[in-house]
Amino acid sequence: MPLTTVEETTMKRRILLGTAIAFGLGLSTVSAIAEPPPLAQKDRYKVGFSQMESNNPWRIAETKSFHDTAEACNWDLIATDAAGSAAKQVADVDSMIAQGIDILFLPPREEKPLIPAVMKAKAAGIPTFLVDRSVDPAVAQAGEHYVSFLGSDFIDQGKRVAEWTLENFKGEKGIIVELEGTTGSSPANDRAKGFDDVMAQHDNMEIVASQTGDFARDMGRQVMETLLQAHPDVNIVYAHNDEMAIGAIQALELAGRKPGEDVLIVSIDGTRDALQAIIDGKMGVTVESSPFFGPLACEIMGKYAAGESIPPWVKVEDRIFTKANAADHIDEAY
Ligand code: AHR
Repeated sequence: MPLTTVEETTMKRRILLGTAIAFGLGLSTVSAIAEPPPLAQKDRYKVGFSQMESNNPWRIAETKSFHDTAEACNWDLIATDAAGSAAKQVADVDSMIAQGIDILFLPPREEKPLIPAVMKAKAAGIPTFLVDRSVDPAVAQAGEHYVSFLGSDFIDQGKRVAEWTLENFKGEKGIIVELEGTTGSSPANDRAKGFDDVMAQHDNMEIVASQTGDFARDMGRQVMETLLQAHPDVNIVYAHNDEMAIGAIQALELAGRKPGEDVLIVSIDGTRDALQAIIDGKMGVTVESSPFFGPLACEIMGKYAAGESIPPWVKVEDRIFTKANAADHIDEAY
């Protein structure tokens, strides 16, 4: 859909305002203030996808989703892997900019360190879509520094895990250990908020320890081993993702505990191993967080190139997997 006259006027006003402020501040470019760069309509696009790490099934599935989409969407895809380093992810984006990408899809590992990548892409005239994770909204905003955020509502995911836990926990007092995701990442911040806010309203629930496991299975296992020493009476483990939940199950079993019987394990994602753990009775629930962003990225960039207005947040709806439906979905899991 082309821009309406009102939208065009508003856009021109914002650019003029941006120019005036930029000159007032002595800046050399207006790009820090004007709207995100447009995307030309082309037969084929050079698309950048900057992955943050590939050490877990979720990340591997997400990267595969972009590769699987590339041919159908007429992309020449440049995909990088920052190997768990925010600094490398910024450098990877620099390199993609130098290679002349038309558009950038960026899952920022952490909220603040990836802001320079967003700003540099904009300054280079490249529209950026944040995928699956976001950046600090106090510094960079959709519709200005980047076009839009494509992803789940992480606060709601945490809230849904908490509500399911309240309905299904059989004991009298919940002694909760929380395994947090990567410190400074949007899902770690928001999944903690969603869950903790609900639990704070219930006197019979206490979060006795909350520590990062960096969204990784092995670190989740190690952190759980340590926390078990200090809190042997734990009876609920809330992990911000399935990989850490599986690591926690391993630690608990090594310590002679029985996940699913004397400890309730609740988590987020929907990986194959988590669904299997639910089927096996070791895990209670996982709220979905889908990694399959390739087709959505293709659809939204097509609309953006056609001049359609894109909402600041293209929200992905998440399902919930429990004993009631895990077996129905395990074949499509990753
Ligand atoms: O940003 C989404 C989260 O990142 C997924 O839940 C997690 O498994 C991944 O590493």
